[in-house]
This record gives sequence, C-alpha cells and structure tokens, in this order.
Amino acid sequence: TTVEWEAESYDMGGHDTYMHKEIHEQVDAVDRVLRGRIDDRFSTVRLGGLNLDAREARGVRRVKILGCGSAYHTGLIGAQLIEELARIPADAEPASEFRYRNPVVDPDTLYIAVSQSGETYDTLAAVQELKRKGARVLGVVNVVGSAIARETDGGVYVHAGPEVCVVSTKCFTNTAVAFALLALHLGRIRDLSVADGKRIIAGLRKLPEQISEVLRGEEEIKKLAAEYANAKSMMFVGRVRGYPVAREASLKLKEVSYVHAEAYPASELKHGPLALIEPEVPTVAVLPDDDLLEKNRATLEEIKARSGRILAVAHQEQEKADHTIVVPRNEVELDPILMGIPLQLLAYHTALALGRDIDKPRNLAKSVTVE
Ligand code: G6P
Repeated sequence: TTVEWEAESYDMGGHDTYMHKEIHEQVDAVDRVLRGRIDDRFSTVRLGGLNLDAREARGVRRVKILGCGSAYHTGLIGAQLIEELARIPADAEPASEFRYRNPVVDPDTLYIAVSQSGETYDTLAAVQELKRKGARVLGVVNVVGSAIARETDGGVYVHAGPEVCVVSTKCFTNTAVAFALLALHLGRIRDLSVADGKRIIAGLRKLPEQISEVLRGEEEIKKLAAEYANAKSMMFVGRVRGYPVAREASLKLKEVSYVHAEAYPASELKHGPLALIEPEVPTVAVLPDDDLLEKNRATLEEIKARSGRILAVAHQEQEKADHTIVVPRNEVELDPILMGIPLQLLAYHTALALGRDIDKPRNLAKSVTVE
C-alpha cells in the first residue's frame, strides 16, 4: 500500500526553496521519528516493523549496510552506532559496488538497505541479489510502501515526510536518528546497560531543541558561506564520528553549489592531500569533543602551518581555526547527527551566494531508478 503525503506538506510555507524549508523542518521531523518508539520501562526503543525477534537479533554476527549517495553516508553513521552501542561488527558500502562484486553472502550477517525514496535502482538490485541468495535484509526507508520497503523483510521507517529538494537534508538527519534507534534496540537486547540506554534516550530527546539552537545560528553561517564561496576547492576532514559528517558535508556542497570538495579522514591528510593545502583551498574540520579532540587539534596545526584557512565545527571555539561553528553537546555517540546540520546550511548559503538552482542541481535527479 502507498500512503499519500498530505498535500499541504508540499507548501513552501514562506521559504524560497524546498531545501531551506526542509532544513528547517528537521526539528519536527526528528520529533516524528522518535514518537511512540521510546520504551522508558526497559530503557530501549520499540520498532514495530522490524520483524526480527530478540533471539534472531542475538544471532546477528555482523551488519552490512548498503545505500547510495547521502543514504550511503547515513549508513556509515549507522554502522558506527551499531558497533558502539550493540558491539556488533558493522560496515557500510555503496550498494552498486556491493552488487557488482559477487559478494559473499553470509547467513549470520544482517543486511540493511537504506534509501530515502525506496526506489534507487542500485539499492533495490542489491536487495534482490541478497534475497535471491537467502539473506535477511531490513530496510531503513522514508517512503512508505516503496519498492525497497516492499522487498525487504522488515525495517524502520524514517518518517521525515516528503523531501522535494534533490539534495537530502531532513531525510539524512532522520535516517541517522533511525539508525541510533536501531543500534539502541540491538544494544539493549545484548550488552548495553540500562544506564547507557537511559543516557542515549535522554540524548535523543534533546535533539529537536538542539537542532533549533543550531538553526538559530543561520545568519552567522550565511556570512561564513559568503567568505568561503570563492574557494578553488574545499577539504572536509574528521576522525571516526566526525568522518561520515565530513563525507556528507562534502557531497552536499558539491551537489548544490558545484564547488569542488573532497573528504578525508583527518589522519590521512598527511598521506597525500596535504599537498593541496593553500589559502585558496580551505578546510572544514569536524571536531567533536570526544577522545580524539587532541589529535584533531594537531591536524589543525598541520593545516595552519601550510597557511590553509580552517572552518571548524566543534563543541567549543577552536583557537587554531579561523572560524568555529559551535554546536551544542549531546552524548558523543549522537554527535554526527547534530554536527551535520550547520554544514547543510553552509552548502545551502554557498549555493545561494553563487546563484545556483538549489532545488534542482544540474545533472542530478532526486532518485536514480535506472542502472
Ligand atoms: C540520488 C540523489 C542523492 C541521493 C541518492 C540516493 O543520487 O541525487 O541525493 O542521496 O540518489 O537516494 P535514495 O532515495 O536511495 O536515498
């Protein structure tokens, strides 16, 4: 069955672009993905459509997440959350690469297909290949009743509401939250303690208000975008939790502003890309206040020593950076969710400053339903 979106949700509601509207809808969207799912009694979450009982969930030895574009990047965040909270080895791979390489399909692996539209051909083809080989595949999907939702054995709906702009914003964030819910659920069936369950739930509940706080900083980010819009190229770096955020922010900037951007793990900078650093090639560094902060600060020094400009996204002002966008603190595991949001605004305002066609970037489609 297909559930039609309500007509009024396509209304621009005073915004000039869908992208801007959808960035601002994240406060309500995150509230929606959490609604009715938190189980305080057992410090866990209930996911009605998962179709995976506790015994089966305990039998999962490995998790493999598949998707394309921004969906793949949420998979990178999802894999980290599942490793951290459920201590199950997990990784993400572009769905197309997976299906073309005659993958070894393992019966103890839980496969998860992630897609906003639920119609991306490469992701759907990966699901079909997995099913053909007898694997169990779950979906993390936004569009209810879509092809991937129908072909998977169960899953988690993302409930972001309709996303019209070609580049994903609210759906990216909601999918990351959906993965946090899944990771918490798997964790609490295994070894995640009640105290940690409570801590993550409290963190999740704080997200909507913290997202509004980030969005209130839009004017400042707009100024920064104007300052960096003429860059020859932009580097995006982060370590562990910051790295998928850097990947997604780099993709977002490329898609919507056509500014060339690259994302690297911060530790890989010295193995090549440092050669590119110069004043015209600024770096966006994602530095959560976790146990890697000191390492990340050392990276900022390396960049400064090559006269590179730095825009940091962090929980506190960074001395070595030219500018810092300060985001509110949450639980470290949830840092990637909030830290991506100011960088959506950066991509948006860069595209606006450069006069781009924001909702329909050239050469791109909202969902690629062909091979
Ligand atoms: C297209 C869009 C991307 C999107 C990707 C995956 O390439 O331009 O923005 O991330 O498809 O879409 P999905 O609907 O599967 O999440």
